[in-house]
Amino acid sequence: MHFELKHQDKNSQARAGKLVTDHGEIETPIFMPVGTVGSVKGIHQHEIENEINAQIILGNTYHLFLRPGTEVLEAAGGLHKFIDYKRPILTDSGGYQVYSMSGSRKITEEGVKFQSHVDGSYHFFTPERAIDIQRSIGADIIMAFDECTPYPCDYQYAKRSMKMTHRWLDRCFTQMNNTQPKYGYDQALFPIVQGSVYTDLRQESAKYIADTDSLGNAIGGLSVGEPAEELYAMTEVVTDILPKEKPRYLMGVGTPMNLLECIALGVDMFDCVMPTRNARHGMLFTSEGIINIKNKKWEKDFTPIDPNGTSSVDTVYTKAYLRHLIKTKESLGLQIASIHNLAFYLALMKEARKRIIDGSFKEWKNVMVKKMAQRL
Ligand code: GUN
Repeated sequence: MHFELKHQDKNSQARAGKLVTDHGEIETPIFMPVGTVGSVKGIHQHEIENEINAQIILGNTYHLFLRPGTEVLEAAGGLHKFIDYKRPILTDSGGYQVYSMSGSRKITEEGVKFQSHVDGSYHFFTPERAIDIQRSIGADIIMAFDECTPYPCDYQYAKRSMKMTHRWLDRCFTQMNNTQPKYGYDQALFPIVQGSVYTDLRQESAKYIADTDSLGNAIGGLSVGEPAEELYAMTEVVTDILPKEKPRYLMGVGTPMNLLECIALGVDMFDCVMPTRNARHGMLFTSEGIINIKNKKWEKDFTPIDPNGTSSVDTVYTKAYLRHLIKTKESLGLQIASIHNLAFYLALMKEARKRIIDGSFKEWKNVMVKKMAQRL
């Protein structure tokens, strides 16, 4: 895998790049739809490719380990073959889901003992295990095993946790070096910067991560409840230090506005459940603002869902029909709303890239963040 920096914006830290993997190229900045258990909820793989135009999707080690399990995934020949998806895939390590999803859990230097949210069974993840499982899943980009600290988090805890995440990272690299990809294509390990909302910790962590000279680097522990100003401040502290010639991935972020602001700070890759989760509750993101499609005002609105939208559902179906489907909890409604939101996120990234290249990114971004915050 390698990254080519194609263009650096003169008025901000925004960049346009190209990430080349064995499953194809990814033009950055990019948003990665979340396909937790090997499915982007309610959306066929061919729609992911053709309607949404995703260039890479995300899977979760924690969920795929619990179900279907590594035995099934290995027998299938890896996740790509199992779900019939030919483009790049990234897997998160479980270093977030064990904290946010599982029942009880106990963190020690060795790893994390946790209880499955599915059947209450107990499991133990170590950095080595997280790498082994991600070898079995076979994603193109795999993530280091880390602790994502909550918000708020006291300084001493954040510091101890960050240092442990660094020691866990060393163990992840050792395990990477001691094992081989299982399916004949490369896997790149991205380390994760932690340090909560403390500038000195973020700086220390970013330096540690930069020194690993990895193919790409991630920023974790954000969008966990902190105010947006803290998210931007910490992102800026970290992107100032991470190497320019490597892709930077901000994990679990965020709203369309967050994405544009963080692109301006030099971030290249994002993932978030927001476009799909909010779609299921009837919240649609558009270039004119946010729509709650369940509102009565759309009951007899027979205009297209989004006249400027890039996916076919945007112009084929009306707001009134989508409102009806969501109100009646029809699975087609969830599907249409999810396709719309993901296509919007991807089109926004594509436009951002175009604007970075033609030099109009900053002005465009400032107009867009205002528009997109409006409630229609
Ligand atoms: N997803 C969102 N934030 C994080 C994080 O800090 N660590 C990991 N592994 N995944 C995340």
